[in-house]
Amino acid sequence: MTQSTGQPWSTGASTPKSMLDKQPSLLANGTHVRLLHRDDAARLSEAYVRNREHLAPWEPSRDEKFFTPWHQLNIIHSKLAQHAVGQEMPWILLAADRIIGAITLTGIVRGPFLSANLGYWVDRDFTGQGIGSAAVKFAVDHARAELGLHRIQAATLIRNRASRKILQRAGFQEIGIAPYYLKIAGSWQDHLLHQLILHGAPAPAT
Ligand SMILES: CC(C)(COP(=O)(O)OP(=O)(O)OC[C@H]1O[C@@H](n2cnc3c(N)ncnc32)[C@H](O)[C@@H]1OP(=O)(O)O)[C@@H](O)C(=O)NCCC(=O)NCCS
Repeated sequence: MTQSTGQPWSTGASTPKSMLDKQPSLLANGTHVRLLHRDDAARLSEAYVRNREHLAPWEPSRDEKFFTPWHQLNIIHSKLAQHAVGQEMPWILLAADRIIGAITLTGIVRGPFLSANLGYWVDRDFTGQGIGSAAVKFAVDHARAELGLHRIQAATLIRNRASRKILQRAGFQEIGIAPYYLKIAGSWQDHLLHQLILHGAPAPAT
């Protein structure tokens, strides 16, 4: 049974059984990954406050309300609604009880595309320990084995060497540069698109 935080931003509603069934999976250095819960709002807000400057160059501009538990709860509701209809896998990364990042498959599309977008971040105090790489591997394995996707796409700023490195390590290939692709840190910025083909790629020539 899920415990309510007793805070005003807690819904008081219990987390669906389907999510409780999903136990945290081990990542790197004793960290874990699990699906987002309704009761994560306060800890997620703390994590974003702690990492405000660390994430600012790589994310959309955030207004003050983004950092409140109430706003995080709204985002969680929206993500869980997308998850319930099969369009999103919102995972968080944990060190003990502390949220230290997130990894998410969004825009899951079926039919002939069978594709999704991958996004992630790791807490400033936990970078450089292989956690980002382990999280990407976890999401890729899940997309292949559980979701049966054909393809994952990820977009990085060209100067984001750490992010490019972990995608390269997971086997992603660079597709090319998409000009003015996303509004990051207040301006429309070119991104390097990457893809990983999970199923249906021809065997490499020998
Ligand atoms: C990108 C990010 C997720 C990487 O997480 P992480 O846990 O540090 O990743 P890992 O430890 O698995 O690997 C990072 C790799 O990048 C390398 N790296 C880090 N900074 C680098 C730099 N400036 N230039 C080149 N390589 C760099 C590290 O050396 C490491 O490679 P190694 O294992 O061969 O030494 C994390 O830095 C982060 O959250 N950044 C801010 C948000 C962000 O950029 N999100 C992705 C948006 S596309």
